[in-house]
Amino acid sequence: MKELEPSAFVIFGGTGDLARRKLLPALTRLSQKGLLSPRSLVVGVAHEDTDDEAYRKSAINALLEAGVDPDAAQRLCGERLFYHRFTNDGPEDFNALAARLSALEQQYGLGSQNRAIYLALPPLAFPATIQRLGEAGLNRSAGYTRLVIEKPFGRDLESARELNQQVHRHFNERQIYRIDHYLGKDTVQNLLVFRFANSIFESVWNRDRVESVQITVAEALGVGTRANYYDRSGAIRDMVQNHLTQLLTLFAMEVPAAFRAEAIRSEKTKVLQSIAPIDCANVVRGQYTQGAIGAEQVPGYLDERGVPAGSQTETFVAMKLEIDTWRWQGVPFYLRTGKRMARRLSQIAVRFRAVPVSLFRSAGTVCDSPDVLLITLQPDEGFSLHFDVKVPGSPFRLRRIPLSFKYHELFSDMPEAYETLLLDVLSGDQTLFVHSEEVEESWRVYQPLLVNPPPIRTYPAGSWGPKESEAFTIGEQELW
Ligand code: BG6
Repeated sequence: MKELEPSAFVIFGGTGDLARRKLLPALTRLSQKGLLSPRSLVVGVAHEDTDDEAYRKSAINALLEAGVDPDAAQRLCGERLFYHRFTNDGPEDFNALAARLSALEQQYGLGSQNRAIYLALPPLAFPATIQRLGEAGLNRSAGYTRLVIEKPFGRDLESARELNQQVHRHFNERQIYRIDHYLGKDTVQNLLVFRFANSIFESVWNRDRVESVQITVAEALGVGTRANYYDRSGAIRDMVQNHLTQLLTLFAMEVPAAFRAEAIRSEKTKVLQSIAPIDCANVVRGQYTQGAIGAEQVPGYLDERGVPAGSQTETFVAMKLEIDTWRWQGVPFYLRTGKRMARRLSQIAVRFRAVPVSLFRSAGTVCDSPDVLLITLQPDEGFSLHFDVKVPGSPFRLRRIPLSFKYHELFSDMPEAYETLLLDVLSGDQTLFVHSEEVEESWRVYQPLLVNPPPIRTYPAGSWGPKESEAFTIGEQELW
């Protein structure tokens, strides 16, 4: 891939965790791979009272902690990283930033004025920041201006609509990059390749052959130090509306007309429009109580630091959805995600219909177990198809075996999701970003659960969720 045009990459929230752990390391790796122009600039914006020199030092430390090559860290942050301080987020702050950017661009010969502005901010700060950017003229430049917005995009349908309207007052949709970091994962993009580069799957990817689909994103981690954010969010807003829904739409969409952003995003949106209204009886919300993850004893959610007493926030959710299309009508899609579950696992399990007649029953062998395709997104990325073979010799017996592929056995380098996504922002490719219509449709699907949340059930940390959720799994636990 050829080197990109030089640009100024502006990070709002430049001293924050996301900038330090993900964005600066991703930019440095892109620069190390020769994909980011060496003439590019990075500007961190935040409230801290610091200056360019101290900011550079702290950024280099963060990069070293993230395991980035020291020379590459020095090259990007030694000279081309800048700090711009905001005092009260008022118009003067934004005007001063506009003037500073122009001055830096002039000084470093970036007359092209290509700008990417990344909002790595708490969601409450999005509307005012976007408005001020527009008022200060930071929504346009001689080159491109692209706005990257972190999740969560809204907290329900209404707030997502308002935020879309607010952004569209100042930026057009071609300038907006709504991030869902799951789309930056190679294994998630591989869903498209798996389906559309291999003709054998298309003929079985439908209601005639598929009995049910389960999408699981299980985490062993708890809420950690994020209770302040998480308790106001919960698993539906934090994981289902975005990450699991992305997996669902990529899995279920029709063949797009082309491998282009508009075509792919439009097919994903159509899946969301076809989801039948959720019946709250088909949803289980859960919250973890104390338990053990491996050998480690961990506290329950209500005992985590910062969680308000009696919180009813769900740390787990399982649900059944139906997609009313010719392809999927009648096939249950089970979504399930939770914190403090038995282990970290993101996986799509496709259970195929069993053979109509069990031919080997007469030989005393039952082979009713349906074939299953497991697409494992993390960890141990890969896939496996589980089916029956004859065990050699007598008596006549069948055994289920996997035909499998693991990424790490063939490829050593799996780039970080943010590396892929930032490269796409800088190249102007919106395929892996969420369109305004798509984000609203996704909130619309889950709105009934937000308005009328089902009761909270409990599950011990280290389990697979509340027992009530067992009805919403496809029962392939032995394969996990
Ligand atoms: C984030 C959520 O978007 O995704 C976190 O806010 C969650 O709560 C994380 O832990 C999971 O991401 P990954 O890439 O580790 O699966």
